[in-house]
Amino acid sequence: MGSTMMDLVAYADRLPGAGETVVGSSFQTGFGGKGANQAVMARLLGADVSMVCCVGTDGYGAETLQNFADRGIDTTWARRVPGSSGVAPIWVEASGQNRIIILPGANLAMDPEVAVAAVNDGLAPGVVAGQFEIPQSVTAAAFAAARRRGAITVLNPAPAAPLEGDLAAAVDWIIPNEVELAALTGQTAGAELPGDDLLRSVADRVGCRLLVTLGEAGSALVTTEGEVLRIPAPAVDAVDTTGAGDAFVGGFIWALAGGRDEIDAIGVATTVAADSVTRPGTQLSFATTEAYEQLLADL
Ligand code: RIB
Repeated sequence: MGSTMMDLVAYADRLPGAGETVVGSSFQTGFGGKGANQAVMARLLGADVSMVCCVGTDGYGAETLQNFADRGIDTTWARRVPGSSGVAPIWVEASGQNRIIILPGANLAMDPEVAVAAVNDGLAPGVVAGQFEIPQSVTAAAFAAARRRGAITVLNPAPAAPLEGDLAAAVDWIIPNEVELAALTGQTAGAELPGDDLLRSVADRVGCRLLVTLGEAGSALVTTEGEVLRIPAPAVDAVDTTGAGDAFVGGFIWALAGGRDEIDAIGVATTVAADSVTRPGTQLSFATTEAYEQLLADL
């Protein structure tokens, strides 16, 4: 259940301030969108994936559907709707940090009834995932249907926004980053890593399992007993962090769907996310199925 974007990525040693122009170092287009990135990662790891999405009638829409087909992702429930596909201008600075603007376009045309029909079609899904790049009402309807079929629902509440009640009621796992975590509480992210008390209070408030991604600091899990476990990430030379959160979510979903426990699933997620930041691009930074088999052989 999710978004697709065409990523338009500019790399520069230094990003411009207001009213300033700087000369960049390189540019690339690539397939993106948080939902699509998560679906592609799960597929690369070996999951059977169906993408429920909307693309536009422009060239980007056709290319996006072809990308899913090339990767063996089912597009029975992917629709083309009049207008533009989603696009995401992205700036990446020398440290690998990014700034992203999304223009959702066709993603906003997603329909709750279509989403429910997709979830009810064929074999029951093991996991249904969603993000905030499509309307929350669509994800809420899909997650409610997914639960009726016994699926686990995983929400990546990105980009940052408050969580609506209908959706909150149907979420099993929520995986925000620090900025998105703050938005769930109606606040702005601080410079410090979120503390244990804050994590516990957010988990209580949203009423589902909470796993927060913390960039190079790894992630933090609130256990069913209310403990906070902090899971470190391996140190890597970051080239481009774009899509690392999606790699994490895609890896976590794949592992959960395969029956792994949450600690093992976080191990998988952390490994593929850290690997992705060592190469430029979003889906372009993901490795091959064969490379992941080697990378995850010991997990
Ligand atoms: O998380 C990275 C993604 O965010 C990019 O692919 C971009 O399309 C935006 O959706």
